[in-house]
Amino acid sequence: MKRVVNFQEQDPSAEEWEFKDTKTENKKRKNGHREKFNATTTKRLDHAEFIKKKEEMAAFRKQLPIYSGREAIINTLQTSDTVIVMGETGSGKTTQIPQYLIEAGLASSEIGSVAVTQPRRVAAVNLAKRVAEETMTRLGSKVGYTVRFDDTSSPQTVIKYLTDGMLLREILSDELLLRYKVIVLDEAHERTLRTDMLFGMVKKIQKIRLERQGQDGILPLKIVIMSATLDAEKFSEFFNNAKILYVSGRLYPVDTMFTVEPQADYLDAALVSIFQIHVNNPKGDILVFLPGQDAIEGLTTLVNEYSTQLRPTQQKLLACPLFAALPPSQQQKVFDPAPENTRKVVLSTNIAETSITIPGIKYVIDCGLAKLRGFNPKIGVESLLLHPISKSSAWQRTGRAGREAAGVCYRLYTEDAFRELEDDTVPEIRRCNLAAAVLSLKASGVENVLEFDYMDRPSRASLVRALEELYALGAIDDHGNLSELGKQMAEFPLDPTYSKVLIQSKEYGCSLEIIAIISLLSVDSVFFTPSDKREQATEARKKFLHPDGDHLTLLNVLKSYWEVKGDIEWCKENFINNRNIKIAMEVRDQLIRFCERIDMDPKSSCGSDTDNVLKCFLTGFFQNTALLQPDGSYKSVAGSQNVKIHPGSAMFGKRVEGILYNELVFTTKHYVRGVSAIQSAWLPLAAPKYFNNVRS
Ligand code: CDP
Ligand code: MG
Repeated sequence: MKRVVNFQEQDPSAEEWEFKDTKTENKKRKNGHREKFNATTTKRLDHAEFIKKKEEMAAFRKQLPIYSGREAIINTLQTSDTVIVMGETGSGKTTQIPQYLIEAGLASSEIGSVAVTQPRRVAAVNLAKRVAEETMTRLGSKVGYTVRFDDTSSPQTVIKYLTDGMLLREILSDELLLRYKVIVLDEAHERTLRTDMLFGMVKKIQKIRLERQGQDGILPLKIVIMSATLDAEKFSEFFNNAKILYVSGRLYPVDTMFTVEPQADYLDAALVSIFQIHVNNPKGDILVFLPGQDAIEGLTTLVNEYSTQLRPTQQKLLACPLFAALPPSQQQKVFDPAPENTRKVVLSTNIAETSITIPGIKYVIDCGLAKLRGFNPKIGVESLLLHPISKSSAWQRTGRAGREAAGVCYRLYTEDAFRELEDDTVPEIRRCNLAAAVLSLKASGVENVLEFDYMDRPSRASLVRALEELYALGAIDDHGNLSELGKQMAEFPLDPTYSKVLIQSKEYGCSLEIIAIISLLSVDSVFFTPSDKREQATEARKKFLHPDGDHLTLLNVLKSYWEVKGDIEWCKENFINNRNIKIAMEVRDQLIRFCERIDMDPKSSCGSDTDNVLKCFLTGFFQNTALLQPDGSYKSVAGSQNVKIHPGSAMFGKRVEGILYNELVFTTKHYVRGVSAIQSAWLPLAAPKYFNNVRS
């Protein structure tokens, strides 16, 4: 079948790509194809090699756009307490400025180190690796990273890349962040909830440290804010008119193309566009922006399958996925050059928009969508929604095609659709559930969260709502102060609902089960559903299904996985995503350590009395519940909203008295996912404060 996506200004003689049915045997070839693409192996360098590499690195650093401004940057950093740095993605802000700070003696193991925050863990890990390489040091010594469930920093570390969430957690144990001399808040334009909280917190810490300067050896704190878009003025205003430094970037012209017609299926449109580019356009790698792991994995499989149909004389095509949950060894492939006679196609979330620069990209395909966290304070449900991106995101994506030479950006939407996009993405603090943020502010000593110094103040309703939720969870007491439970909850690197459930598992004697289920919920999915084998996958899943729903079904999967000792063949036969389950087991190890720290027995098990597991889940998820109505529909307890059970759930089509669910997704209907059966009598026991309030 010939399919084509028509872009404006397209050469009418361009070759259309013919899709033939793929056969499963193709898989074998695909794997052979993949093996050639090894991750770089670390080997010991001899002295001559070491010198050569060092010179190469020095030369590389000198040709970056930021280098010409090095002196000016150092001078400004020396004389100012707070500096805003604005510069095109790829100019060298994140990798170079921390090194400049160390080179200029503005931070050191004696006076305090540099912390560089990133909204995403993949970026933190990748950047630390890169800077360790540039400084010719072992990762974890001079340069390290700290992300949730993984820490490679050591007492020698002077440049530490960490997620914004981890820095917030460090404030809990080091309230003036005294181990740091400089805090770099990177990717500020993204305005994630946590970065926004850090703006207010580090501003306050800087003020206190200045006042207490000299007492107990306290030194002033330097703040550097880095951004890739033109919003520097706003940051400057918030930080008492801090000086702005503009780093000139290097960007080649990029042709932008829109589709002539709106595309009904963006995945299909992306697939067709990839092959159109591949068979018609000269050399250069392709970067495709997609909304999430599912879409990326699906398309990776398709591209690798269809690429076996390319003519033997044609260049090969190799798909490389990039998303947050990808194990580091796989991530590396994105950055390695493609093998001989092969075009690389990187399928990424918006992580490649500004935080990470991938070399060799000449073509960008932008599906125009991203997954954004959203929250509706009225019905009290948070959701991850597929959303059109903003104009500024679209331009950032476009820019990725012009890093090394002139490029082309293919937008999988029409020019009219582009005109209708918002100018900028609304800051997360304005659209998501603030319970986690408020808990973390409270735990860091901010008593009045309504009066906190926000750069963009969230609505009063959403703050009050967050306080109510924390109160219902028992994290704050009648006077609005953090309770003992609340303090423990803030210690866990989890959302308050999950940390509550985990801590309560001690009471219900089911920590083993709860830790296992939460770990599995932390990854996208442990089920693997290839598009060409949907039926077999559904059939294979049946043996794990638990009559009480998805939570216990996950537990069944894990029990079987343990029985076969994680056998890969078993995973394949049973359509279990081996990679995701492995990541979940790493998360589990970390959670076990956290539990041990607060004297919980991570092995306590309720055995076959699995009702306890669900009752325990209710202590956190009591707001995510719905009751069966006489007409067979379910109505949510919190917002009297009609909800439908997602077809992918073990509870789909079932009628039970009540359900609890992990999330509500708005697509065409209000679907609930991660669903289990509950009894309505359990509700007041699980959350007495909440249900007393609801009734009164
Ligand atoms: O922060 P900014 O976007 O300004 O740039 P950066 O992340 O410091 O990256 C500067 C340059 O370093 C990029 O253009 C890449 O050429 C290179 N780099 C790399 O080769 N490998 C990495 N893992 C990260 C950066
Ligand atoms: Mg950067």
